[in-house]
Amino acid sequence: MTDFPTRRLRRLRGTPALRRLVAEHDLTPRRLVLPVFVKEGIATAQPIATMPGVSQHPLDGLAALVDEAVAAGIGGIMLFGVPEHRDAVGSGATDPAGILNRAITVAAAAARGRITVQADLCLDEFTDHGHCGVLADDGSIDNDATLEVYARMAVAQARAGADILGLSGMMDGQIAACRAALDADGRTDIVLLAYSAKYASAFYGPFRDAVESTLTGDRRTYQLDAANGREGVQEALADIDEGADIVMVKPAGTSLDVLARVSDLSAVPVWAYQVSGEYALIEHAAASGLIDRDRAIGESLIAIRRAGAEAILTYWAIEVAGWLRAGR
Ligand code: PBG
Repeated sequence: MTDFPTRRLRRLRGTPALRRLVAEHDLTPRRLVLPVFVKEGIATAQPIATMPGVSQHPLDGLAALVDEAVAAGIGGIMLFGVPEHRDAVGSGATDPAGILNRAITVAAAAARGRITVQADLCLDEFTDHGHCGVLADDGSIDNDATLEVYARMAVAQARAGADILGLSGMMDGQIAACRAALDADGRTDIVLLAYSAKYASAFYGPFRDAVESTLTGDRRTYQLDAANGREGVQEALADIDEGADIVMVKPAGTSLDVLARVSDLSAVPVWAYQVSGEYALIEHAAASGLIDRDRAIGESLIAIRRAGAEAILTYWAIEVAGWLRAGR
């Protein structure tokens, strides 16, 4: 008898009802945020080949998409702009008539406060070289000159009607610079979401198609090295010091350890971005019959919640919200 286990941890896994009752974490629609690509100069949605099920949207289609997001009960949409013209300093980003700023206005008008309108604050979609900042004469990224552009971009996005600005450029001091510019413009209400621990990653590959990136080379002088966990934590703490309202870790699936550490230490909400490559891996593997698509999606998202993310940016936001509403 003494050889029998006295601790039977399987007991709580015995039935679906027990498993449901004791689950530590769950997903809810309000915790999901949908990234949305808005492309200038198109009349109908254009599917993105590397991301089955995801499209670039025309400005005209945005209001309907916002209504869909509201009906799904998700927490917000994160807008990205795909401009027709790009230049060295990313003028389209600060121009009120630039595609992203126009998209913000359209989305905010459609949302009417029912859902948060978030905007990517970065130059890579607007520069002809595809980098997230402006370049110095020697071709390197000019951090401090970039901050001045980000500050103007922040004001333009706030004036366009964004609720939350997602600072994804990984420049030092970007939160403080944008916060100061917004305060000076009287916009003390604007929420700053810092993509604090953003790792240089192959998993952004499909996104580069989605925004028709012109980048040659990589972003390793500004995005984090995947070998470094402590540095990711430090980035988040620095952003909180600078005035970030929310901090984020990405890619989510390859940074769950960093997410967990930031979540332990952060005094502000912690989010994660399940990026384009994480989406594409599951979609393409499922299309090849290698994995159960819906289970893989659910597992990938609950793992991100378990690691500590309070909200998740995911291209499956609307679909998964539908499952949750249906009780799945
Ligand atoms: C930069 C930005 C990127 C992503 C979000 N914001 C691309 C990059 O840093 O290269 C990637 C998101 C994804 O892969 O889904 N504007």
